[in-house]
Amino acid sequence: MGRMFRRFRIGNGKTERKVPASSVELVKSFNNTLLNKLQKKGFLMQNDFGTNLQKLINTAKTLAAGDKGLLALDESISTCNKRFAKYGIPQTEEFRRAWRELIVTTSGLSESISGAILFDETIHQKKKDGTPFITIIINSGIIPGIKVDIGAKEMAGHPGEKITEGLDGLRARLAEYSQMGVRFAKWRSVIAMGDGIPSWGCINANAHALARYAALCQEAGLVPVVEPEVLMGGVHTMEQCGEVTAKVLRTVFDQLYIQRVMLEGMILKTNMVLPGLTCPKQETVNDVADATVQCLLQAVPAAVPAITFLSGGQSASFASDRLNAMNIRFKSRAPWALSFSFGRAIQQPALDIWQGREANVSVAQQALYHRAKCNRDARRGKYDSEIERVS
Ligand code: 13P
Repeated sequence: MGRMFRRFRIGNGKTERKVPASSVELVKSFNNTLLNKLQKKGFLMQNDFGTNLQKLINTAKTLAAGDKGLLALDESISTCNKRFAKYGIPQTEEFRRAWRELIVTTSGLSESISGAILFDETIHQKKKDGTPFITIIINSGIIPGIKVDIGAKEMAGHPGEKITEGLDGLRARLAEYSQMGVRFAKWRSVIAMGDGIPSWGCINANAHALARYAALCQEAGLVPVVEPEVLMGGVHTMEQCGEVTAKVLRTVFDQLYIQRVMLEGMILKTNMVLPGLTCPKQETVNDVADATVQCLLQAVPAAVPAITFLSGGQSASFASDRLNAMNIRFKSRAPWALSFSFGRAIQQPALDIWQGREANVSVAQQALYHRAKCNRDARRGKYDSEIERVS
């Protein structure tokens, strides 16, 4: 069948040009000549990312490709210390370095992991033998990413709600990270559910910041991972979580559109639609899968290449099981890849084993490898309790 074309008015509006109909086709068909011509004619928006266009699309596609997903090891110093405190692991830079060395030197990790998200402290750290972590990551075939927000702070006039900060000076920081070899970035907003919250003020302000961050990333040639997280804490039902998640995502995509973010060159990282942790009714794995994908279908444009879920405090096996159910039920029909960008759901079992002791490194690495593989299997809809056993 012949390709479908549409006519676009360009420049002063008097000239028309034929371009392929779907945006995916449009993007695929951009060779430099056409791109230049369209730019000259004023067809493309001013912020159309010129030479970054293909680079952004390629990076986003590679991050989403096959059965692999992202590993988040970007806990801030205080969050990492909090996790260490539970085990009595010393809360020092050297122990954080040792923990991250354990992770990045796990052999075979790249079989399941396409991209690793680092924290600023970590990206400057090295293995004991002096090799920078970022070199180890790149050499193992994993794309390095970086968390660039500076945290969620109490929001003025909005008790119980937070606004994520970090836009000031972001352009310069992105340029520096890009020089180091980083190819994608992450910014997380948190939306709490409770009495009278979330408010429009909180949703709007966070969505706006996410979109401004995403535009700056694309300008710098880095794929933005856009992360609005509706938190699990609370007594809310799964339906209420679905309503709030859809509202947040619609607002985020409105703002991404306003800020001229190219959807083909970004990744959405978000929560699954779940009942609150203290909600008396806890739905089945299949119900969660259905509610999550239904919500996403209503709010996430098809041009986005991948949705990578955060685990948000679910147990490692629940996170895998729910992702698995989504892929069994929707993989063939969903317009985007249904993938993962887990932190705790990949790291936690390994941290339980490591406990800060050199002697436990090798077994902890096996646990980390295993959890990463469970989630690769979940992307294929092939995860089951049998593979929970470390071989
Ligand atoms: P969790 O999977 O532990 O929620 O972490 C994901 C993450 O990167 C949060 O920003």
